[in-house]
Amino acid sequence: MKPETTTRKIVIEQDKRFSQSSLWRIQRDYFDREGINAWVNSVPFYITSNPFIAKTYARIVLAFLHDWINLHPEARQAPFYIMEIGTGSGRFSYYFVKTLNEMLKASDIRDVRVIHVMSDFTRSNMRYWETHHAIAPLVEQGLIDFALYDLDAERPITLIKSGTHLDAATLTNPLTVFGNYIFDTCLNDMFAIRDGKLFELYVSLAAEESNMKGNWPAEMEKVDVSYQAHKVGDTLYNDPQIDPILTEYRSNLKETIFMFPTGAFKALRFLNKIANNRLLMLSTDKGYCALPSQEGAGQPPIYFHGSFFSAMVNFHAIGRFLENGGGDSFLQTPRRGIKTAAFSAGFRLRDLPQTLLELNDRVEGFSPADYFALHRRMSDSFGECTLDIIASHLELSGWDPHIFLKIAGRVTKLAPEADRDTVSFLCDNMEKIAANFYDMPKTQCVLFEIAVFFHTLKKYDQAVRYYEMAEPFITEKFGLHYNLALCLHYQKRNEAALTQFRQAVALDETSKEAAEWVTFLEQNPEGTRAPSDAEPTEKNR
Ligand SMILES: C[S@@+](CC[C@H](N)C(=O)[O-])C[C@H]1O[C@@H](n2cnc3c(N)ncnc32)[C@H](O)[C@@H]1O
Repeated sequence: MKPETTTRKIVIEQDKRFSQSSLWRIQRDYFDREGINAWVNSVPFYITSNPFIAKTYARIVLAFLHDWINLHPEARQAPFYIMEIGTGSGRFSYYFVKTLNEMLKASDIRDVRVIHVMSDFTRSNMRYWETHHAIAPLVEQGLIDFALYDLDAERPITLIKSGTHLDAATLTNPLTVFGNYIFDTCLNDMFAIRDGKLFELYVSLAAEESNMKGNWPAEMEKVDVSYQAHKVGDTLYNDPQIDPILTEYRSNLKETIFMFPTGAFKALRFLNKIANNRLLMLSTDKGYCALPSQEGAGQPPIYFHGSFFSAMVNFHAIGRFLENGGGDSFLQTPRRGIKTAAFSAGFRLRDLPQTLLELNDRVEGFSPADYFALHRRMSDSFGECTLDIIASHLELSGWDPHIFLKIAGRVTKLAPEADRDTVSFLCDNMEKIAANFYDMPKTQCVLFEIAVFFHTLKKYDQAVRYYEMAEPFITEKFGLHYNLALCLHYQKRNEAALTQFRQAVALDETSKEAAEWVTFLEQNPEGTRAPSDAEPTEKNR
């Protein structure tokens, strides 16, 4: 039997208002320290960083631009700014900016200038975007700028590239804000309702000494979190936009615990002020859109993962906060999964007919949450899907590289035997998958997989083009040189093929196939091998 060890409990903090808890500091430290690695290691992000959700947002923004310009024709003379807060990896930004600009170019408001500001509180993310192959050209074209912006601090916002101050003087048009998967990372308070009475929940934290790294716990999941209820009145904040929300919750809920997004209130008030009280916001997150959905929660809706936590965002309260200030909200009716919501300050969404149409169709209708639910089910059954079903799903996804990477093996297996129409549908759209390529650490290069697809179909011109495009993104290059060499050989470019085979051999001297090819081409500079030898290698896939 192991001897029982008793480790001392260290009290980290006691009876603190939730928004003042050091939990938030641990959370901030995590994103600051990890930068782009947060997404590589543990923070899920596909759900808010795919071409489908980007297209949803682009459609809504395009409709909003039309509505606004119809109501205020002079608005088209000045730029519209979109500020993405807590941007993270930048993959969503890329898909959004690309899609919106394609749509704008094809519209009757193609002269309108839209500047997308990617912002985050940490410089480490910004450093990543600055040199990113997909972002840098859009910065060059003036479509994207960057800003350091911390939701928990009211500091002036200066755009890094143009030097423009985003303030009441420059924002002559409404400011559009995107906040995806962010409002649980900025300050919240917490309340409970018991027997119709309102309590504020304060928090205490303790950890075993062995889990402490300096002053902070190493593993959040092992921290003891306890809550202390303090009876409070519903004029706690002495704020006409905020206190009525507490009254509404106390009057309508019987027994529950809920998050109260005071950080979001503060940030929106600040952003609305610099935007001259004209704000549109789109947000997607795990959260609550309706009051009744928040009834009966026995536990605080926060979840600890390794070194950070996530929480349910109270979209309903954010909506009420803006409505109490004369704004509006469009909250998706409850369904499982993430929620998308639209908010406005200074104008009503229901006065914007095209915007409302898109919101009804793409938020209340088939939404990013519905797409994700369907996608998850499809992902489990790709192995049973025929090629035409896979192609339809790729089309629905907006030709998403993330999906193509999951199924590239099956696509290349099925394609040579599939019907001509499906194959040409796929071939015609490979360019769209390539255009959606957004490189991130430790993700495979989709350009290589597209090359293998064309290679398998013996379409060597396209295969060569994509192998060459993939080259800068691939670290293990044996497969690249070997496959490229094969395609060059079947294009009757033996000299170039020999160079590539030699590079493959230099990388892997044990490869018998590569060595045989070198010998063959050295001995037969004009020779051609049988088409059956053209199979791409599986190595490095
Ligand atoms: C969960 S990630 C979401 C990233 C991205 N929006 C997405 O949907 O994948 C939260 C992001 O917010 C940033 N962040 C955390 N606290 C912040 C704050 N107080 N102000 C601004 N950004 C913050 C983090 O650096 C991180 O990039």
